[in-house]
Amino acid sequence: MNPLVLAFETSCDETAVAVVRGADTLSNVLSSQVDLHSRFGGVVPEVAARAHVESIRALTHQALMESGVHPADLDGVAATAGPGLVGALLVGHSFAKATAWARQLSFIGIDHMEGHLMAPRLEFEDFVPPAVVTLASGGHSQIVLVDDWGTYHILGETIDDAAGEAFDKLARVLGLGFPGGPAIDAASDGGDPQAVKFPRAMLDRPDQLSFSGLKTSVVRFIEKGRASGDLPPLADVAASVQEAIVDVLVDKTFRAVDKTGVKVVGGGGGVLANRRLRQRFAEEADARGVKLRIPSPALCTDNAAMIGMAGSHWLRLGRFSDWAIGVDPGRRLG
Ligand code: KG4
Ligand code: ZN
Repeated sequence: MNPLVLAFETSCDETAVAVVRGADTLSNVLSSQVDLHSRFGGVVPEVAARAHVESIRALTHQALMESGVHPADLDGVAATAGPGLVGALLVGHSFAKATAWARQLSFIGIDHMEGHLMAPRLEFEDFVPPAVVTLASGGHSQIVLVDDWGTYHILGETIDDAAGEAFDKLARVLGLGFPGGPAIDAASDGGDPQAVKFPRAMLDRPDQLSFSGLKTSVVRFIEKGRASGDLPPLADVAASVQEAIVDVLVDKTFRAVDKTGVKVVGGGGGVLANRRLRQRFAEEADARGVKLRIPSPALCTDNAAMIGMAGSHWLRLGRFSDWAIGVDPGRRLG
């Protein structure tokens, strides 16, 4: 039987707690800090860490209540160990370790990106390796070949901005709110994705993604348009910006699918919540007859269920972390 795990995710601006057994989610709660950070136009690390401290105890209580699990029945505790903001990570990680220590439970630190990578399994029983998984979040953009759980080959990676970072920066350029991904997604409603042809970088390199040139191009386009008073409707610009990012992710992902011949494609990270990206991925997967397994938007963005599932998996195999282990803000998958 899979271990029953209490899991914590505090790598960035969501405080999240879940109770999970294997891929079964018994509860999955979170408190978003978006309102706290939006007036700064981005996540303020110190503010994030303090907000985690303020909400983690009540959320833990809520997660246990909703799951109907008594703490005495838990088998282990999992927490995100990195990558992420050091202060934010330390709150969840320390709270989790203290909880595990007090109850004499096994503790395991989990890679945040491995959580995203495994997340499709929370909803799809047939999401099993080998698979190509696209991870696109605020800090990462990676195309990963999953040979087995724990055996990951990074086939492609951004050389500058992450896809979510590009959305966030470009939303600022367009005068849209924070976080930028959902803002551009919403603003592109009814817009023409072909209205403006923004550059797609590195399309000849299967292993590299790049989004910094796109930002420069959009900044120039907006400046020129404002100076001449000749800007297309915002929906068209937003849809075109979104299409440029989506095109790059689609191109790299399905190149990897064609090259490896795998029949399962997964996705995780906040950018995979993007409606246009999900539609384009579905079209490409259908055309190739491969299974597309991207979880619901709420499981693409940060959550603790994915950390719990990874924790339950590794604890079942007898893996756990040493009490002395700390967080690793720069942790790399694999
Ligand atoms: O995985 P995540 O929740 O947190 C990190 O691990 O970074 O990803 C957050 C990122 C942000 O950059 C946000 O703008 C982006 O995911 N994002 C989206 C959408 N929802 C969130 N990007 C595009 N379209 C969306 N609907
Ligand atoms: Zn994330």
